[in-house]
Amino acid sequence: MSHSSPARPLPKAELHLHIEGTLEPALAFALAERNGITLPYADEDALRRAYDFEDLQSFLDLYYALMAVLRTEDDFAELADAYLARAAAQGVRHAEIFFDPQAHTARGVPVGTVIEGLARALDEAEERHGISTRLILCFLRDESAESALATLEAARPYLHRVTAVGLDSAEVGHPPSKFREVYEKAHELGLRKVAHAGEEGPPSYVWEALDVLGVERVDHGLRCVEDPELVDRLVRDRMPLTLCPLSNVRLRAVDTLEKHPLPDMLRRGLMATVNSDDPAYFGGYADDNFTAVRDALRLGEEELRTLARNSFLAAFLDDEEERRAR
Ligand code: HPA
Ligand code: ZN
Repeated sequence: MSHSSPARPLPKAELHLHIEGTLEPALAFALAERNGITLPYADEDALRRAYDFEDLQSFLDLYYALMAVLRTEDDFAELADAYLARAAAQGVRHAEIFFDPQAHTARGVPVGTVIEGLARALDEAEERHGISTRLILCFLRDESAESALATLEAARPYLHRVTAVGLDSAEVGHPPSKFREVYEKAHELGLRKVAHAGEEGPPSYVWEALDVLGVERVDHGLRCVEDPELVDRLVRDRMPLTLCPLSNVRLRAVDTLEKHPLPDMLRRGLMATVNSDDPAYFGGYADDNFTAVRDALRLGEEELRTLARNSFLAAFLDDEEERRAR
């Protein structure tokens, strides 16, 4: 049975969202034209036809290639404002937004351009869209530990705009322990810590994210269900997991949405949240993910409210901010 979406989507916080993954085909072509870049696709439909992914890497190849259109502060501001408008329409009241500085500095775009551009949109987000925001600077785990350290150093003048560090990109072969030093440095600088772990990588990567990096949330964490001791630990610590159901289907981390372990995870007492990851590529923004799991997994009102409540509890908000965001 399929339900229609409620007129007013549930208020929620989005905690797992790559801003570069919100680049919709129409904006990609508009920015390409503005910046004199020729994309290797005839039109938006041709580009969309390339969104047929086999795994994380096949997605990442396109994700990094399409970023070539992002060059100026204006581009980053426009990208973020477009996301915030869509997120607001989906009930998002608070967004903690990942960005990948190395994907831009490698193309000659300074980290300051990225952060100042994003920050310009974020500064107006409360007034324009009713959304409070945080920025999370992610290190690319398939780049070296030295490159991550250099990235943190280059971002130093802008860190007053950044709340946390994260870890993303190709997971297998790049365990969290590779980034122990840069996470220690980030902690000393007063930054909060999250990391992708257990999306394609094994449960041992989730253990490392907890015990070596000292993360306060695990991004994805999907494969924790393979390790009962790990589940016990996550439950005991009330460690938030930022799940991304539509992403998991598109990148084939699960066979079908109907087989997603989310209901089982909730029953086992895990602090799960539902997020959109790279919504321009994976077929839906925050509430589209809520609606999809509700329908495919027959979640009831109570479970949906738990997911929404978890999203605010797991956010990097103080009590007063949390109360206002809900
Ligand atoms: N996983 C890892 N890295 C990423 C993702 C993801 O889903 N999206 C953008 N970078
Ligand atoms: Zn992600």
